[in-house]
Amino acid sequence: MSVDTTHADLDLKDWTFHIDFEDIAWAVFDRENESVNSLGRRPMEELGKIVLEIENKSSKGLVKGLVIMSGKSNFIAGADIREFDTYTTQADVKTALAEGIELFDRIEALRVPVVAAIHGYCLGGGLELALACHYCIADKEDGTRIAFPEVKLGIFPGLNGTLRSLKKAGPIGAMDVMLTGRMVRPGAARAMGLIDKLVDTHHQLRWAARKAILKKHKSPKLAWWKRAMNFGPVRKYLAEQMRKKTASKVRQDHYPAPFELIDIFEKYGNDYDRLKRAETESFAPLMVGDTAKNLRRVFHLSEMLKNQAPKGGKDLQRAHVIGAGTMGGDIAAWCVFSGMEVSLQDMSADAIENAKKRAKKLFQKRLKSKVAVEAAMARMIADVGGGNVPRADIIIEAIVEKLDIKQELFAELEVKAKPDAILATNTSSLPIENIARRLKNPERLIGIHFFNPVAKMPLVEVIKAPSSDADVIERACAFVTQIKKFPVVVKSNPGFLVNRVLSPYMFTAIARYEAGIMREKIDEAALRFGMPMGPLELCDIVGLDICRNVSDTLGYGATDDSEFGQLVKNGKLGKKTGEGFYVWEDGKPKKEEMNFSDEELDKLAQELIKPMLAESEKCLKEGIVETADMVDAGVIFGTGFAPFRGGPLHYLENLNETNTSSAQAAE
Ligand code: NAI
Repeated sequence: MSVDTTHADLDLKDWTFHIDFEDIAWAVFDRENESVNSLGRRPMEELGKIVLEIENKSSKGLVKGLVIMSGKSNFIAGADIREFDTYTTQADVKTALAEGIELFDRIEALRVPVVAAIHGYCLGGGLELALACHYCIADKEDGTRIAFPEVKLGIFPGLNGTLRSLKKAGPIGAMDVMLTGRMVRPGAARAMGLIDKLVDTHHQLRWAARKAILKKHKSPKLAWWKRAMNFGPVRKYLAEQMRKKTASKVRQDHYPAPFELIDIFEKYGNDYDRLKRAETESFAPLMVGDTAKNLRRVFHLSEMLKNQAPKGGKDLQRAHVIGAGTMGGDIAAWCVFSGMEVSLQDMSADAIENAKKRAKKLFQKRLKSKVAVEAAMARMIADVGGGNVPRADIIIEAIVEKLDIKQELFAELEVKAKPDAILATNTSSLPIENIARRLKNPERLIGIHFFNPVAKMPLVEVIKAPSSDADVIERACAFVTQIKKFPVVVKSNPGFLVNRVLSPYMFTAIARYEAGIMREKIDEAALRFGMPMGPLELCDIVGLDICRNVSDTLGYGATDDSEFGQLVKNGKLGKKTGEGFYVWEDGKPKKEEMNFSDEELDKLAQELIKPMLAESEKCLKEGIVETADMVDAGVIFGTGFAPFRGGPLHYLENLNETNTSSAQAAE
């Protein structure tokens, strides 16, 4: 038996490596100066040194196996996205892929057992590394998740994760995970075959990995019925189904990656050598294409928003929400879901009861165990009299949109609340400075503007009045980040950022409709551009009465005798009344099937989008948010503006560049 040895001569910064007294090698990934492990160039080079060491030692019988694990709270969050933009040509991408693929192949070819021991997130390139190991163990703890999120970045797994996941899980499981990018819980990953063994807790991982090395465990062969799914006609049928399902969610011209993946699976799903080559050939153009570049930009923008919050602060424990209607009820539920204790106040006990019922549905959907649902319900406290105000760290008002009532409420709250509690209003149209007018310390009041539906919308606007205290704004950003939403700081002005930019899109659409263009054509044009929903359908969902108010507040000049004004006057308010621009049945608008030419739609889409772009530019000029990136981030996460286009200002810049180069070419 040898002694425990560390290997300083390997000169590792991002990994620690040692061989223990039982001759088991432990490679622990712990990236220097980073909170998260990602597979960048240096960690991959260092992993190469470790693999070489194992190759040398195993040929002399000096090592029994290798365990790969993490020294951080997550295994590996994927490849290092910050490095992606350094690959500017397909050749660059292919070279980088070839190096990674060769390294993972060497791991797979090691003559001693290699075990991946997974705790926390194991994503993308991290999962590809785990699949190259001979055996994967994961713990069942709450935060452990397995996923291939590459499609969300406009690519698919390129380090042979495609073929290795097909080999381990078979086509149905593997393709589903790759095509959706969804997070898979450890139990489901085990059932699929991506993970070989589960242990209950993080602390059992080392012991289980040791045992797997000593017993030379290997992933089992794929079950015969999963192998059968890979045969010619079955595979063709499956590919067809996958194409249909994917096409019902995204368009191939906007998001080519999942469709390319289905193509290579269909062609080479049972020929791993050719699949291996096809993976690289299809991956490289995607990686340097516009969609992937813009989706990476969206990722960077989301990181930028999260980083606005001050680091190292303490999480808020208690929120008090006033108004248990559409917004207040859902804001309270979301805060509870994020771990806070929330007291919910309303004049009406029924409103609170209804909000609790809605909250329970959310918890049942998102929290898997009954115990967790019950614990969440226990953290949501009905508080008609507002007795919990003095305990709250943050107070969010979401009552009726009337200035005098809100002013009176905050004047009372200021006296009762803790001196450092954040005071916030969810108003969608009233200037914060006006609501703050009756406060002794008006600098305490800010806006925290959520979007409907709260559980689905990732963005929250943090509204800064001229009077607002910068420290309160920072703490509000930290709160928004704590509840896992993206904060964007916006200067108080009518429509804030998101509604201001969205309004011209909606009112231009209404004007085109009133000028005789078919509603289906207008909405189809917007979808073709990449908007998540057509503007007229969106108006129907928001409610035409609310759109009418917005027109008055933001000066779009709708009149009672216009076609739109008549709809409002006649109570045809959209989805909620069953009719607006569309007739609504079973929660869906009835649309006529029609065909329009691509040219017509593209022209119309530009007419709808351009006013949005112009409003975005105005917001930047007026300093509504601080930077162009903030405008783009706010509009993408607040309106769903075609993410693969990288945001309105980014899109405008590209449009101007294209126009300039076409003009130069024509000269
Ligand atoms: P809602 O009408 O659904 O709910 C308001 C609730 O406040 C009702 O349950 C009512 O009983 C209660 N309430 C009224 N006055 C009160 C008082 N003095 N004390 C305690 N409770 C009181 O309204 P909704 O849609 O939830 O809007 C609330 C606020 O959120 C408004 O300021 C609105 O502008 C804003 N907002 C609304 C959005 C939406 O899509 N509905 C989106 C973003 C902001």
